[in-house]
Amino acid sequence: MRFPDTPLTGGLTNIRPAITDDVDLLVAWHGDPDVARYWDGDTFTRGEMLLRLARSDVDAYIVEAEGEPVGYLQAWFEEAGPGAGGLDMFLIPSARGRGLGPDAASTLARWLVGAGRVQRLTVDPYLWNDRAIRAWTKAGFQPVEEREPDDGHTVIWLLMAFHPKA
Ligand SMILES: CC(C)(COP(=O)(O)OP(=O)(O)OC[C@H]1O[C@@H](n2cnc3c(N)ncnc32)[C@H](O)[C@@H]1OP(=O)(O)O)[C@@H](O)C(=O)NCCC(=O)NCCS
Repeated sequence: MRFPDTPLTGGLTNIRPAITDDVDLLVAWHGDPDVARYWDGDTFTRGEMLLRLARSDVDAYIVEAEGEPVGYLQAWFEEAGPGAGGLDMFLIPSARGRGLGPDAASTLARWLVGAGRVQRLTVDPYLWNDRAIRAWTKAGFQPVEEREPDDGHTVIWLLMAFHPKA
């Protein structure tokens, strides 16, 4: 766990650690096909979600806007390569298209780098996901290279690395 001491505040969102009380919400969110389709179709039982929240190499966050939970953001850390990590994110459908995703991602990315939790931070959108690539770009990530499908990706994807503007 590498959480900040207090929730992070962006311009439009707050980002706080996901807790056990969030499990039912997260299970319901993943049960929505318009969320699952962006997560390789994965859905989770309550027990599976509890295990996901307890992972040592992934920190789970809830994105809030105007006091309401609107999405999930996770930071993962490569155990083999100290200092390297990445982000994954989804917003519930009703929260999309208002700039909340880039705001939350940029806020967490800046904190992770600024607090020394990672030296290199990447994201891995599928190449077909124009909206996500645009959102990560707005959050400060830049394309590195296209990658072939592998264990963690069912189709061709784009490696992007965090290079915040000053
Ligand atoms: C990706 C996601 C997190 C982005 O957050 P968001 O708050 O919706 O992002 P924004 O509102 O800033 O929109 C991002 C950009 O995509 C653009 N966009 C919207 N729909 C688009 C589409 N179909 N194709 C291309 N760009 C699109 C928007 O115009 C915006 O760019 P602009 O601000 O320059 O106009 C959110 O849309 C989401 O949860 N999507 C489903 C899950 C997902 O794809 N997760 C990422 C997996 S890598």
